[in-house]
Amino acid sequence: RVEILNQGPATAVQKFFGTVRKGPANSLVQLPNNYLGPILNLQQGQKVRVYFTNQLSEATIIHWHGLHVPQSSDGHPMYTIAPGGQYVYEFEVRNPAGTSFYHSHAHNLTAEQVYRGLSGLIVVRDVEEAKLDLPDGDYDLPLVIQDRSFDNRNQLRYVHGMPQRMMGFLGDTILVNGKPSAGFQVKSRAYRFRALNGSNSRIYKLGWDDGTPLTAIATDAGLLARPETRPYLMLAPGERIDLWLDFSGRAVGSKLTLYSLPYSGAMPAMYERMGHGGMMHGGIHQGAKFPIAVFEVTEKVSDSPKLPEKLVPFRRLTAADTDNADSPLPIALSMQPMRPLLNGMSFAMDRVVEAEKVPLGSIKKIRIFHDHSRGGHRGGMGMMGGMRHGGDADPNPEHDMGGMGGAMMNMAHPIHLHGQQYQILSRHAADTDGYASVKDGFIDSGWKDTVLVMPGEVVEIAKPFQDYKGLFLYHCHNLEHEDLGMMRQFYVY
Ligand code: C2O
Ligand code: CU
Ligand code: CU
Repeated sequence: RVEILNQGPATAVQKFFGTVRKGPANSLVQLPNNYLGPILNLQQGQKVRVYFTNQLSEATIIHWHGLHVPQSSDGHPMYTIAPGGQYVYEFEVRNPAGTSFYHSHAHNLTAEQVYRGLSGLIVVRDVEEAKLDLPDGDYDLPLVIQDRSFDNRNQLRYVHGMPQRMMGFLGDTILVNGKPSAGFQVKSRAYRFRALNGSNSRIYKLGWDDGTPLTAIATDAGLLARPETRPYLMLAPGERIDLWLDFSGRAVGSKLTLYSLPYSGAMPAMYERMGHGGMMHGGIHQGAKFPIAVFEVTEKVSDSPKLPEKLVPFRRLTAADTDNADSPLPIALSMQPMRPLLNGMSFAMDRVVEAEKVPLGSIKKIRIFHDHSRGGHRGGMGMMGGMRHGGDADPNPEHDMGGMGGAMMNMAHPIHLHGQQYQILSRHAADTDGYASVKDGFIDSGWKDTVLVMPGEVVEIAKPFQDYKGLFLYHCHNLEHEDLGMMRQFYVY
């Protein structure tokens, strides 16, 4: 149950309880009979109270991914509630217009609870956005992409073996807004599709089959300064991209298929060599080509909003805005057998180290990189069995067949930080296998809360820690990695 305690600064009445606000203007279409949660439509400036009741037979808690809220309303796993329990959240909507989502954040249970449906979209609107002539009402649609598997009674099947826990779960069926073989009947005009990657570990390379480029108007929880067009767009778990899809001028009856286009390099090299891990997973392999949704033009209309040249005022943060430009805080990614780590550490509910303490009000430069020196060789046994010969990470992968450690375990990780949105300062990639197949699909000019860090990549971000003291998580949004402890927290004091 959701209560709006005050109104946003600029809109008509929008009190609602429980589900989405109805009405032709400014509303997303409700997802009927859907296993996803209802869409929460919020307005910047609103004060919101959410009564969350746990009717499951296991513990859970909900996190508002993308929203800038106090620790006590952020769904930290320390607030996990038992079956029958209730948690009352209260927060003010401080984010600008954009797309966020909510999902379970119960530690060790996140991956499976999200998989089984504990997530839904959050749409924030504001005054700046209202000045723009963006598609709304029936032309503002969700595009929640997930991969799932079903057993022979058509029930969701969550596989949780060693390869899934180490590499992430990959399903065999692609769902859009909770439905397989998704199709949209559209008019010959422009649409806004709010794409969310709600998958546990699958990374999509969104693109049309005919090579037409894609235009984005928002990344994660905010509109861009201006629309950006790319040949394809990478969308990692937890990321959002608002797409401007324009069917103007298309004939009635024409069909366009949105694909995930082929790419490589996201999985460990050895894994890819062994058949892309697809065989081990029994799912569609990471980087395979498959259709996501078909758009069929069913009605000719003569008017359509035009793509604005400029969207919202936007100040780009630079390293000079941070107070530690020369000594960035590290987020080092590494993999040991069954233990993906951040800065060499696993999650501990109430623990932070010195480097994770950040004064309130600061903007920090953070460097996210792969740390090969923390390979999986310490334990000796790789997940594939066999001893890896000791020493530091071996640059020659052919010497490393025995253990899945060091550089051999180097894979893509979508890194999410709670709290305020951040900006990407730079992205540098070593010339690793496969990188060329993804490199044109990143939009780094907007607000972000989740960034895909490909093998060999170093990503630097400027992250504000303003408004709220307390514990704010950062973690890999490969949900199997998150549950395995690839999560830490900042303590803002
Ligand atoms: Cu989308 Cu901490 O999570
Ligand atoms: Cu989050
Ligand atoms: Cu990861």
